Amino acid sequence: MADLSALTAQALVQIGASESLAALDELRVHWLGKKGVLTEQLKALGGLKPAERPAAGARINAAKTELHSAIEARRTTLEQASIVQALTSGRIDVSLPGRGEATGGMHPITRVRLRIEELFRNAGYEVAEGPEVEDEFHNFEALNIPADHPARAMHDTFYLEDGLLLRTHTSPVQIRAMLSRKPPLALIAPGRVYRCDSDVSHSPMFHQVEGLLVDTDVSFANLKAVLHQFMEALFERPLAMRLRPSYFPFTEPSAEVDISCVLCDGQGCRVCKQTGWLEVAGCGMVHPNVFKACGIDSERYTGFAFGFGIERLAMLRYGVNDLRLFYDNDLRFLAQFARG
Ligand code: PHE
Repeated sequence: MADLSALTAQALVQIGASESLAALDELRVHWLGKKGVLTEQLKALGGLKPAERPAAGARINAAKTELHSAIEARRTTLEQASIVQALTSGRIDVSLPGRGEATGGMHPITRVRLRIEELFRNAGYEVAEGPEVEDEFHNFEALNIPADHPARAMHDTFYLEDGLLLRTHTSPVQIRAMLSRKPPLALIAPGRVYRCDSDVSHSPMFHQVEGLLVDTDVSFANLKAVLHQFMEALFERPLAMRLRPSYFPFTEPSAEVDISCVLCDGQGCRVCKQTGWLEVAGCGMVHPNVFKACGIDSERYTGFAFGFGIERLAMLRYGVNDLRLFYDNDLRFLAQFARG
């Protein structure tokens, strides 16, 4: 039999010097595996005299146990080291500023919309929504625009299949509100609208805000006061306002709303075409036929409605002279609205 203590000493040196778990496992197989050095020693016991076997066997087993615990100890050390190594190499410096930390900004149309919503919410109005894909009933019929009405031609409607269409204004949200709820009602309805129209000052998609107030004694004077206060609050300055008689099928009487030009203060400039006035909204008292279509008693209730375009107000508020800038997604333009 080989010199067991020499073998053991050699094995211990190798185990202590092993640098990886894989190398350590190779050593384990080499020394203690099924065909390992010490296992071969056990097999060789048969060649000894029977009297010598027990003592020799015990020594071999003691050597095996010793190597086994040395391997386990080394394994623990190596595992510990590899954890420390993983922790150090994967260390994240949480104090480093992140990449691309520049925050985005809200689109100017969104900013103006949110501001409009806030102003009306403060005045007790709720913010309502309706579908952009509408039907003829809500977009036209219930608004007192029957199929043969000439006003339909003015709407440049995008028609879809099955009597559906892209809403041409936010007025159908009035109808949905009045059909589903009882007065008193005070709401605004901002949202996208679509018209088959595109040039310098028209986009096939733009944004409107509808307003509706229905109660037992709503007057035209209330309408004027609400719009005037709103315009002054939005532009943050005193403004003159005037109403010009106009026509909408769903309001009677109807009016067009002008404010004194926010760029020249009514002096006359290019934006107001030297008139000193800017047309900013359409409005009127809810037509009895509209109430009728919604099952509201027009003897008991009166109401006003108004509608304006968000793009137009945004252009005036920010001094933007081309509507298309809002849709170009040019970051140089958009970044100017990111703050403040
Ligand atoms: N819906 C009208 C339009 O799109 C605006 C409007 C709304 C007018 C409510 C009167 C009352 O032109």
